[in-house]
Amino acid sequence: MHANKQKYLYQHIANDISRSITDADYISGQKLPSLREISQRYAVSMATAIKAYEKLEQEGLIEVKPKSGYFVLPQLIQTIDKPEITRPKNKPTNVNVAHLAMSLITEARHPRLIKLGAAVPGEDMLPLASFSRSLAGVARRHWKALSRYEDAQGNESLRKQIAILMRDSGYRCKANEIIITNGCLESLNIALRCVAKPGDTIAIESPTYFGVLQVIENRGMRALEIPTHPQDGIEIDALAKAIKQQKISACVLIPSYSNPLGACMPDDNKHYVVKLLEKAGIPLIENDIYGGLSYQTPRPKSAKSFDGSGNVLYCSSFSKTLSPGLRIGWIIPGRHFENVRYQKFLDNLSTTVLPQIALAEFLERGQYRRSLRQSANIYQGRMQQMQRWVAEYFPAGTRITHPQGGFLLWLELPNHCDSLALYQQAMEKRISITPGKLFSAQGQYKHHIRLSCGAVEGEQAKQALKIIGKLVGT
Ligand SMILES: Cc1ncc(COP(=O)(O)O)c(C=O)c1O
Repeated sequence: MHANKQKYLYQHIANDISRSITDADYISGQKLPSLREISQRYAVSMATAIKAYEKLEQEGLIEVKPKSGYFVLPQLIQTIDKPEITRPKNKPTNVNVAHLAMSLITEARHPRLIKLGAAVPGEDMLPLASFSRSLAGVARRHWKALSRYEDAQGNESLRKQIAILMRDSGYRCKANEIIITNGCLESLNIALRCVAKPGDTIAIESPTYFGVLQVIENRGMRALEIPTHPQDGIEIDALAKAIKQQKISACVLIPSYSNPLGACMPDDNKHYVVKLLEKAGIPLIENDIYGGLSYQTPRPKSAKSFDGSGNVLYCSSFSKTLSPGLRIGWIIPGRHFENVRYQKFLDNLSTTVLPQIALAEFLERGQYRRSLRQSANIYQGRMQQMQRWVAEYFPAGTRITHPQGGFLLWLELPNHCDSLALYQQAMEKRISITPGKLFSAQGQYKHHIRLSCGAVEGEQAKQALKIIGKLVGT
């Protein structure tokens, strides 16, 4: 073949694949077709296929892994900046977000909304059909279990399975260290109640999940918002300084893929914070609900995995990975075990019986882990797409986070933007978003929003972002 034609061909193939990467048809980490497949698909020689991949390698779009093949590299959305580190006021604040949270969440349940607001996975992202077969089988075989209360600590087989899951986060424990709860929020509620009392100050990331704020509000405690980096999580020096300056009774963190920032603390920071708090005698409540949805394997370590003294109360649930409606979570309370078990008993005696048995069987079959990996892959692709569309449709000055796990994005909009008003305007167009104000006790983040790609994707997400981008620009 003529040399020029060869050049044109490899360039054409490289451009084709590059476009597929930009459009997220091929997503970060995904394996590309083999050289043989490329040569057959484009009817070119192996040498031309090799040259096309070499070009993509030079452009930093793909990498070759010896004996494995070619893979897509993470794509940087270069046209749009990341948000800066946050700077909340350095003083404890009474919290008052629960009413706003409840009214926005109730409103956003409307079935015909495009749900970019709720941090909830779509039906298609959850292994519900498979799990419901377990549930039906268990209902047939174990219906007599309904005649009794489950132990306050929870079903033993389920606790054994959770102990196995915990190894992924670098923490080895026995089933008898775990207590089953009605979801992560109950775990947080009990944990906080066990380690602090009304009027106490609780250190938190800023912004943080409004459920954490609700729990603090409900208990009559005060929130001390600590500066937080959108990539690396809580600023450890600021936390150390706050501990020196004020009396802090507990610290609540979401160290791996926080809500709303998607930040993940590096291992060294997790280690440092665990030791810092241990030394200061301040319990750490770790919320690890998104840790399993890492785009990379192995998933990041939990803070709990650095805990040698039982000072960390680890909280999580299956709400983001299997079913929010199941209402099953757990807590590993460390040295607060007896008190936590007692508080769980006082609250509601125990968690409902049959779903625990079904979940234990489901986890034993290994399907949960497979589904976790698949969902994380899909979320990674959706997040990249959403970032691109925000870059395309939102006005200059917009900033966006780049999480490496989970399905939440945090946007800093131009200063003039009022995200609560934007929320109302978007709802009129039947699109839900979450206004930033919900994530701060101090009423910060008025021009920020959280977007979720848990339940919305493709053309629907694109059109919705186009509309919101336009509203922001007006
Ligand atoms: C960080 C975080 N923690 C806890 C929860 C609530 O968990 P659960 O439904 O298991 O109570 C959520 C739900 O959005 C969350 O994002």
